[in-house]
Amino acid sequence: MEYRQFGRTGLRVSPICLGCMTFGREIDEQASLPIIQRALDAGINFFDTANVYGHGASEEIVGRALKEVRGRVVLASKVYGQMGDAPNDRGASRYHILNSVEDSLRRLQTDHLDLYQIHRFDPDTPLDETLRALDDLVRSGKVRYIGCSNFDAWQVMKALWIGDREHLVRFVSIQPRYNLVFREPEIDLLPMALSEGLAVIPYSPLAGGFLTGKYKPDEPIPPDTRLATAQWYQGIYVKDKNFRAVAAVAEYARQRGIPKEQLALAWVMSHPAVTAPIVGARTLAQLDTALAAHALKMTREERAEMSRIAEEA
Ligand SMILES: NC(=O)c1ccc[n+]([C@@H]2O[C@H](COP(=O)([O-])OP(=O)(O)OC[C@H]3O[C@@H](n4cnc5c(N)ncnc54)[C@H](OP(=O)(O)O)[C@@H]3O)[C@@H](O)[C@H]2O)c1
Repeated sequence: MEYRQFGRTGLRVSPICLGCMTFGREIDEQASLPIIQRALDAGINFFDTANVYGHGASEEIVGRALKEVRGRVVLASKVYGQMGDAPNDRGASRYHILNSVEDSLRRLQTDHLDLYQIHRFDPDTPLDETLRALDDLVRSGKVRYIGCSNFDAWQVMKALWIGDREHLVRFVSIQPRYNLVFREPEIDLLPMALSEGLAVIPYSPLAGGFLTGKYKPDEPIPPDTRLATAQWYQGIYVKDKNFRAVAAVAEYARQRGIPKEQLALAWVMSHPAVTAPIVGARTLAQLDTALAAHALKMTREERAEMSRIAEEA
């Protein structure tokens, strides 16, 4: 596997990041460990979790699974979501960040995080407070790099500007939702990332499985699938236009004799701003799909054609 430069840092990551949100939430530890091991065996060195995934359960499983290889992997986690009932158990305040990092480090059985991300923009906390807290974590050695997720382009730029002005460590990466039926990041975020040298690690490259074609219009959502267990995904993806896009992409894939899941993932990977998509897998076979997609090299023309087909459906 060829490794990629993580934005303008000296860090090198695999071209696929394993998303760990499913672990301890949709599948238990016994089912999760073989997936993590298969990822390691395939050369994946990049793992993304968050304190809120399974309310800490994901971090605990990942911590146990990666303990022996900790020095060879790039471990990313996040802070922002509600972790308790107290008023300061959420958000991107200095208070919550400094408490949360200790909890994440304990659950992950490590003394540092390689990438610590603000899970979403906090309108109630000044960015300079958040950045100062993150800067302290980097200087103390508890965190190596910082990033953000679900930020709009203006919010990232404001953070970069404040960081530069105050001589604080910069965000080195963004983590937006991005896939064939959710292309908003193409407007501002992805060009901004190219311009600023930010790594881009898009989540939901398969639209949480919607792009696999397992969901049908006018049919009930199958149980034991992402859209059944995480119902907010339904609000994002269950739309007539998206069903038409999935059908059009499936036909394009059929004509080429390539599984549509692989093409959909390869399409995300082929955007010039993308460093590594964060793929989710409930089974080994699903992870294998993602690994196979990496082997597909999509040309600029093929990418444009798929974009057009999904757009015009
Ligand atoms: N920053 C954020 O706000 C945020 C939000 C969401 C996710 N994330 C991160 O991104 C990671 C990936 O997100 P995601 O899980 O939404 O990504 P995804 O790769 O679009 O969806 C993964 C899901 O799709 C289904 N799937 C995958 N391959 C399949 C295949 N070959 N055939 C059929 N179904 C298949 C599986 O769900 P089922 O089998 O259950 O249907 C799997 O869990 C997460 O683990 C997390 O680390 C971040």
